[in-house]
Amino acid sequence: MSPIKPTRHFLDIDQFDSATLRSILDKAIELKEAGRGHAKPLADHTLVLIFEKSSTRTRVSFEVGMQQMGGDVVVLGSQDSQLGRGESVADTARVLSRFADAIMIRTDSHQKLEWLAEFATVPVINGLTDDSHPCQIMADVMTFEEHRGPIEGKTIAWVGDGNNVAASWLHAAVKFNCKFNIATPLEFQLPDHLIDWANAEGGDVTVTQSAEEAVAGADCVVADTWVSMGDDDERDTRLELLGPYQVNDALMAKANSDALFMHCLPAHRGEEVTDTVLDGQQSVVWDEAENRLHAQKAILAYCLDVL
Ligand code: CP
Ligand code: NVA
Repeated sequence: MSPIKPTRHFLDIDQFDSATLRSILDKAIELKEAGRGHAKPLADHTLVLIFEKSSTRTRVSFEVGMQQMGGDVVVLGSQDSQLGRGESVADTARVLSRFADAIMIRTDSHQKLEWLAEFATVPVINGLTDDSHPCQIMADVMTFEEHRGPIEGKTIAWVGDGNNVAASWLHAAVKFNCKFNIATPLEFQLPDHLIDWANAEGGDVTVTQSAEEAVAGADCVVADTWVSMGDDDERDTRLELLGPYQVNDALMAKANSDALFMHCLPAHRGEEVTDTVLDGQQSVVWDEAENRLHAQKAILAYCLDVL
């Protein structure tokens, strides 16, 4: 009898070796190049999408991606399932595993994602938690390389809140061997354990409170909202403390002259980024959004072992 293969979850970038991440990106490029003409390896497969937080890109890209791979989705909003009425994550995982081939969840607590993966017998994909957003950053690395070639040895500058998206960028910087400069106010730094992990892994990370220092020599400047989902109670404090971290033309001028600008979207124009930067020549934000589709199709192919 052949050994039972372990379930292939996609929970966080730091859990993978670089070669596996690279193979997922290679597949994403292959699928993008093939357009609609590629094979449909997920025919008769169903993905359940659980959204306990809002989404435009993640929902539509997973749904369209499954359709293009020949499969189907069931979408559960926070009020649609018994999760919202207190059924445990473990029991939900056990039940959904009897119906579906994979589960994607967008939720608040990272622990819920981990419980889902522990009790599901099908792959679980992280569609964003309070701690990380790995699907986004796979698309972002793909986007960088489409525009500028190999990301290895390049410098990525994160400016603003040390949030979930920043955490996944840090993971990716270590795994793809690029330099990661992160500028945040002291109050909104990435947790120490993440920086310690990156340093222990041999990562090249600079932590600063100066946006100017972070972007000096950068090949890519990245921003995200100052008020993530779940942070609304702190909105006023955040706008005040993060005000000096706006990515505008003056800040972009301090990065390399061919630096890209990235933002996972949704953007808050006039807060973390100005219209001139978001709509400017250096911005690749619409490519990033599109590449969610291609990167996630490749992640699905990895999880369902049809890579
Ligand atoms: N970037 C991103 O995840 O967008 P949505 O919140 O619209 O899914
Ligand atoms: N940091 C943002 C990302 C949204 C895609 C949030 O968590 O709300």
